[in-house]
Formats: sequence, structure tokens, C-alpha cells
Amino acid sequence: MARKAIFDTDPGQDDAVAILSALGSPEEIEVLGISVVAGNVPLHHTVANALKLVELAGRPDIPVHAGADRPFMRRLKTAEHVHGETGLNGPDLPAPTIAAAPRHGVDFIIETVRAHEAGTVSILALGPLTNVALAILKAPDIAARLEAIVLMGGAYFEVGNITPTAEFNIYVDPEAAKIVFAAGVPLTMLPLDVTHQMRATEARIEAFRAIGNRSGDAVAAMLSFSQGFDLQKYGWEGAPLHDPCVTAFLVRPELFEGRLINVEIETASELTRGMTVADYWGVTDRPKNAFFVRSGDAEGFYAFLAERIARLP
Ligand code: RIB
Ligand code: CA
Repeated sequence: MARKAIFDTDPGQDDAVAILSALGSPEEIEVLGISVVAGNVPLHHTVANALKLVELAGRPDIPVHAGADRPFMRRLKTAEHVHGETGLNGPDLPAPTIAAAPRHGVDFIIETVRAHEAGTVSILALGPLTNVALAILKAPDIAARLEAIVLMGGAYFEVGNITPTAEFNIYVDPEAAKIVFAAGVPLTMLPLDVTHQMRATEARIEAFRAIGNRSGDAVAAMLSFSQGFDLQKYGWEGAPLHDPCVTAFLVRPELFEGRLINVEIETASELTRGMTVADYWGVTDRPKNAFFVRSGDAEGFYAFLAERIARLP
């Protein structure tokens, strides 16, 4: 039985690969819809990118809903330096021919969770958590109804990527992250600790290109573009691939290892704003509120992605 899921996302090339690989996994994931948030780039770009993606995958039936265009309290921080001006630089995807659905993304989340049997809908969060937190604040009943929240975000042993202590998604809206991590929903986080192991080497990018379909070509072009900044920054043999870890965790959890621990979000200090303070060694009696994924099988991960992208047009 496929798990019902809502993607909350700020596409972004890596978000795109996460969503495309999910659309290539209909037996395991039923994508109920997409709520879009500002993050990598401003909301008008992330919405357009989400529309382009569902059309690229031949799934214009999947509703795309625009959500928050800024964090709760902070100025929006974007990442064009990584993702390019549109957020989906790389492939030359046609402008979308479909429009976003009229409901706000937060209302889409609330109404979708309420419309399905309790415990059957999960949120797969790939960007700043503004929409997810707003949905929980506006409709506290959904916290008990959600099956899970599986998110890409945070870091501990691998430290930060947008500041020395914070990962981008949490950094952009730390107040939202604090609400989500305290909501009591079964939560799995895929932090930089595991995503930095998933490096998109040239051979792995070529494997997408070798598929020979438009989706594989687009993924190869996306990763070839978005790798530039990180290759310079890290000096690794490939740039880390973040958001598809969420999809892979849902479909192939055996590829990953982690543990249930306490994770708190720093919101007070400007120096460490957005830090995910992970009690990995259990030195406090704080509640264990997050399954922290620390490692994964990179070969298995990329084999999974290529196999699922190959199922698309
Ligand atoms: O830090 C990586 C995260 O920030 C990914 O979700 C990427 O898409 C950006 O949003
Ligand atoms: Ca993202």
C-alpha cells in the first residue's frame, strides 16, 4: 500500500530530484500534492519550478499550492549562489502550461490531512519549515493526525552549510523549525551528516544522462549546474545531494542508519541561529523527538534514484 505524502518544497535542483524520484515510485509513494515555500529562491520561482517538475514527469494532475513567501519573523535568505537565479538552472525546461491551485499551501496541508484517515498522511519537507509550522499552528489537530514528518534539514557532526553552525533549511526559519520539532509528530530528519555522504560524482551524474529519457537528461543538467558552488567549497569528488535522501528514506529505509534522540533548535543567539542541537549521546533527559539519520549507502542511494527516474517520461 503506497504511503500518502505531501511534499513541502523550495525547488531547487535537489528538491526536483526528490520529487521526480517519488513520482517514479507510485507503488510506494502516492503524492497527494505539493505545497511550495520560499527558500532557495523567492516564492514565484519555487512555484513555477514545482509546476515545471510535475509537467516534466507527465503528472500535471498533481496539485501545486503556493505557500509562505517569507519566514515567520526573519528576512528571507535565498541561495541563488547554489541554485542559480531561477532555482532550477541547468536544464532548459519549458514554461509551465498549468497554473498553481487556488488554495494557499498551508490550507492545502490542513485540508488534506483532515480529509484522510488519521495516521495515513506524511509530510515530506524539503525546504524551510514555514508552511508546516503555520499548518500546525492554524490547525493543531493535524499534529495527531499526521503519520510522520520526514525532512531534510539540520546538521550536527557535519556542522553548518550556511553558517558555521546551521544548515540552510533550518537557518532560514528557525522559529518554524522549533514549532515543528516540538509538535509531537513522529519526525525523521536527514541532516547534512548523511546528505554529505551522497556525493554526485561525474559517473553518477552520467548515469542519469545515460537513462535516455527527458527526466534523466533534466536531472543530469540540474546536478551539473548546482554542483559548481559546492565542488569549489568542499573540494570533494562530487557535490552533496540533499533532498532526495527524504524520498529514498521512505522507499528504501534499509539504506540508512540513525537513532532516536533529542534535537532542539537554537532561535535566540544570532551567532548560532538555526543550529540543531542534537543530544546524540543522550547526556540530557530531554524528550527524544527526532530520528536522526547519520549515515547511508551512497551506491544504493544513486542506484535507487536512477532506477526511479528511468520510470518517468
Ligand atoms: O541545506 C540543503 C537544503 O537547503 C536543501 O533542501 C536545498 O534544497 C536547500 O533548500
Ligand atoms: Ca530544498
